[in-house]
Amino acid sequence: MSKKPLKKKHEVETTGHSWDGIEEYNNPLPKWWLWTFYACIIWGIGYSIAMPAWPIFKSGATPGILGSSTRANVQADIDKFAAMNKPIQEKLVTVDLDQIAEDPELRNYTQNAGAAVFRTWCAQCHGAGAGGNPGLGYPNLLDSDWLWGGTMEDIHFTITHGIRNETDPDEEARYSEMPAFGRDEILAKEEIDQVVQYVRQISGQEHDADLASAGETIFMDNCSACHAEDGTGDQMQGAPNLTDAIWLYGGDVDTLTYTVTNARFGVMPNWNERLTEADIRAVASYVHSLGGGQ
Ligand code: HEC
Ligand code: HEC
Repeated sequence: MSKKPLKKKHEVETTGHSWDGIEEYNNPLPKWWLWTFYACIIWGIGYSIAMPAWPIFKSGATPGILGSSTRANVQADIDKFAAMNKPIQEKLVTVDLDQIAEDPELRNYTQNAGAAVFRTWCAQCHGAGAGGNPGLGYPNLLDSDWLWGGTMEDIHFTITHGIRNETDPDEEARYSEMPAFGRDEILAKEEIDQVVQYVRQISGQEHDADLASAGETIFMDNCSACHAEDGTGDQMQGAPNLTDAIWLYGGDVDTLTYTVTNARFGVMPNWNERLTEADIRAVASYVHSLGGGQ
């Protein structure tokens, strides 16, 4: 039966193409669409002439005739802030370390600038809130339990030269090395078990009293030169206080046994090559002000 052809077929021309009897209408694009399309092309050409646009093999992009550069804008901002901070930074590096906290202007500046330096350079090890990373040997900087001393001068020195690194150009990194009592066969396995129980005792933890009393002699002979006879440590050697509940690596029997057997060697980089003296002073004052400063 012959069906009535669709009405449209009569109104719109076909392109003349035909596949298996299917014909293609010739529907032109709407004018508004076409003009918008051309306008975009022209704008695009204009933009790529005026602004940085086309990537160039190896070296950035075409610069554009207006000379616009986001990098230059950022640099201009940085220069502006550097110029603003210059007078106070000059003052900061000339005063005595102890004077910084006394001067309200310097105090205010070091709180802000020091916190920013800390977030950028220190937080990955010492934690965003400076609470440290117990178990990994990154000390808490909020408390008054200092390995190497908590005066402004001590903290400034520690940050400047770092700890047990080989990179400080002044070769003044803080240094000390606990012997690996088990690995180097200085103590036998049972002696280590005994001294570990003694450390549990002096740190006020549950312990085996017999082993601990045998461990006391071992402690006096092998450990007290660094950790002091009463176990409270020695800041000249960065030997931690073993009588408090604050641990770098941990106070449970397994961790203590591991520490005494293999020793530890916590390393902190020197910052004198990466930070300016003003930044080191700012972050030192910031750390000093966190609560534990002496
Ligand atoms: C790569 C990790 C790492 C980074 C980054 C780091 N530290 Fe440390 N820091 C350590 C370690 C590990 C110790 C403890 C070393 C030891 O056992 O004596 C330490 C110790 C310290 C101490 C001594 C604490 C005490 O009790 O005497 C201070 C102060 C300190 N860091 C400040 C900073 C500041 C400020 C920064 C940023 C500028 C920083 N650290 C960045 C790893 C780091
Ligand atoms: C030459 C000095 C020295 C001697 C001797 C020494 N220590 Fe240490 N000890 C250190 C230092 C320094 C550290 C910190 C190491 C680090 O942070 O890398 C330490 C760390 C420790 C820790 C880790 C504490 C924590 O907070 O996690 C324990 C436990 C410990 N020592 C126990 C002992 C015992 C037990 C002996 C004796 C058998 C001993 N030490 C002998 C210097 C010494």
